[in-house]
Amino acid sequence: MKGTVLSVFLIAVSVAAMSAFAQKSPPAAAVEDRDWWKHAVFYEIYPRSFADSNGDGVGDLNGITSKLDYLKDLGVDAIWITPCFPSPQVDFGYDVSDYENIDPMYGTLADFDELAREAKKRNIRIILDFVVNHTSDQHPWFLDSKSSRTSAHRDWYIWRDGKGRQPPNNWVSIFGGSAWKFDPTTNQYYYHYFYAQQPDLNWRNPAVKDAMFDVTRFWYKRGVSGFRLDAVDTLFEDPNLTDNPILRPGKNAFGDPIEQDKFNTKLPEVHQVLRGLRKIADGYDAVLIGETWTADVAELNQYYGKGNNELQLPMDFLFTMVNKLSPAEFRKQIAEVNAASGWPTFVISNHDIVRSYDRYGDGQHNDQIAKLMAALYLTLRGTPIMYYGEEIGMKTTPPTRKEDVKDPIGRTGWPKEKGRDGERTPMQWDDSANAGFTTGKPWLPVPPTYETHNVAAESKDPDSVLEFYKRVLRLRRTNPALLYGNYTPINEDNPNVLSYLRLYRNHGVVVALNMAKTRQKISLELQPHGFISAKKLISTGGSAAHGGEVSLPPYGVFIGELGK
Ligand code: GLC
Repeated sequence: MKGTVLSVFLIAVSVAAMSAFAQKSPPAAAVEDRDWWKHAVFYEIYPRSFADSNGDGVGDLNGITSKLDYLKDLGVDAIWITPCFPSPQVDFGYDVSDYENIDPMYGTLADFDELAREAKKRNIRIILDFVVNHTSDQHPWFLDSKSSRTSAHRDWYIWRDGKGRQPPNNWVSIFGGSAWKFDPTTNQYYYHYFYAQQPDLNWRNPAVKDAMFDVTRFWYKRGVSGFRLDAVDTLFEDPNLTDNPILRPGKNAFGDPIEQDKFNTKLPEVHQVLRGLRKIADGYDAVLIGETWTADVAELNQYYGKGNNELQLPMDFLFTMVNKLSPAEFRKQIAEVNAASGWPTFVISNHDIVRSYDRYGDGQHNDQIAKLMAALYLTLRGTPIMYYGEEIGMKTTPPTRKEDVKDPIGRTGWPKEKGRDGERTPMQWDDSANAGFTTGKPWLPVPPTYETHNVAAESKDPDSVLEFYKRVLRLRRTNPALLYGNYTPINEDNPNVLSYLRLYRNHGVVVALNMAKTRQKISLELQPHGFISAKKLISTGGSAAHGGEVSLPPYGVFIGELGK
């Protein structure tokens, strides 16, 4: 499915041109900041696939608890667990039927409390995934809502009459087909941006807002340190239900017209909701991370809010949209997000897109390239959000037959769209049966690469992707320039090597990344910044520097301490 889901998302969520944002980052004064989330490394866990403690083939909370020492040793500060609440699992938890409990498949509230306690002992914070746009169609709110036109929860969702026998307007679901489903009980249509089993909440109803805000308090009181807010840009729709414009002729992977989601996404009302959620979060020193898909940094910037009173960490997905090792592209994007008004948040993989290992890998040097990408997003100014398995070089492994597909996107879009199973396969812990993920039958097959790419084997190999991640994360935690320094690009005309400095008081670090398949020797532009040499801190493939000259083998990484 390489790129397809991603492009569906992108077409739907952004047609804006890249912003006219300043190309250079200002020499912002570096500050040691008390905001814990600025210097934390986040790690996304897809709980179905991380670790199975009871042999039913599906990962669970006790499985996560059993791996906390691994996460600590790796060097992560916070784990974001994708939805683990009761759910019919139509969209694997992104269809919540009870926001204040744990799905029995994943355990119990007591298991959650145990996880929270054990995580706290290790200084690891927990972030939950808050599905704000929609519930499951099995949520009691929706069951009541659909029961009659006058039910107490009727107006908690979006119900409209059709146009004759047609849906109320032309909006299409991002998962295929009309975004409206007719319900014969009350002879009206309800709106769903995602799957029909994921009806959209009506955020214009203050009762919805109050109930959802209370959900966050429930979890904060249980020790949660923040939320990743799912699909934030889809919360509001045009009340007049204006038809969306057609973006271009033709059909998408689901056979639907290609629309610009002008009237059902990105409505400005969302900012008021975000400000409300932030107020509550601030009372608990919690962080709000946003799933903010956009290619437009000016738009991303709005999610910080005026005076930074909305999301602390709107995710920057720009890296996931490059899909090639292009220093010029990365340089441009890094400069743009550094010029934004809030703190950058870098993501290179997640449970919805092809893993970075495959997007950037050339098939021959994938491990080297995985290290290169790690060196990039873990040394930038900003907060990185890792995705489980990235640290061992897990390969996207999509199903080969339609009957094996689990993701609804793949089931409706096959064969053009294979869905997201490929990036959600079980974590590869060792080379035993099922990669040590489960003693039962794993819900998705374990990729064949588990024999070489697994935690146990890579822990013993100093050249592994895993050991590289650990080294960089250790350096990041202890080096003031990487923690607090500003971002200063150098050698900006070089087409093959991406290089930059991180400068903080007397400390300076240089990062040079060879994105080409040939050796590159360059003279680092250190002198204009008051330095003359770079001493190796971390390198790959024999990369080395003499004074300010660096020599990098294909895809080589050099991270050095600057000297005067
Ligand atoms: C987000 C999630 C995705 C889910 C969708 C609907 O994009 O990341 O996995 O399918 O929202 O909740």
